Amino acid sequence: MAERFLEPDSPELRARWGGFAFTSDWDAKAKAAIARYPEGRQRSAVMALLDYAQRQVGEETTTQGWLPIPVIEYVAKYLGMPIVRVLEVATFYMMYNLAPVGRFHVQVCGTTPCMLRGSDDIMATCEKRGMHKGHVSDDGLWTLTEVECMGNCSSAPMVQINDDNYEDLTPERLDVILDALARGETPKTGTQEPGRHTVEPVGALSNLTAMVGENHDYRAEW
Ligand code: FES
Repeated sequence: MAERFLEPDSPELRARWGGFAFTSDWDAKAKAAIARYPEGRQRSAVMALLDYAQRQVGEETTTQGWLPIPVIEYVAKYLGMPIVRVLEVATFYMMYNLAPVGRFHVQVCGTTPCMLRGSDDIMATCEKRGMHKGHVSDDGLWTLTEVECMGNCSSAPMVQINDDNYEDLTPERLDVILDALARGETPKTGTQEPGRHTVEPVGALSNLTAMVGENHDYRAEW
């Protein structure tokens, strides 16, 4: 399980982020998110606004973005919410980074299906490149986090990097992806298994074969 710590409040943090405000683009998105909810329910937009704030911080720092405490306070004020309520949301969901991250946030799934399919080797591949859990690498490119199941078990092992998932990984395939990202390229997302499109069976079907051509009812055979 990933350890999560809030970046401590400090005069330096206040000096850098105390004046945070949405740019006009993010402000328009924030207002549109709030407008999706009935009058008086603007707080329901808190997850969207935290995400927008994190993305703006990412743009300003050329990283994947994170949520300094003054930025969380800004969102709370924007929505007229107690700060602790916004903190509760920000600290609960793994999608919010509570401390600075690198340009690429590499989240390796270590839950059982991914573990059985080689996530230890995937983690070792990341560590070989100078990534350490919870830290920004010396070159500022990477932050490594181990996460729980990301819902891609059928194409395990997998990692999420920023907004994209990379699945059916081997150490070699992950190296190709990380090299491409470091060069500023956009590698193929999703499954990395040649010939596989999503999570359809690899090779020939081995069960439920009667379902290929029709909606076969198996119940009589049970
Ligand atoms: S166990 Fe890794 S995606 Fe489900």
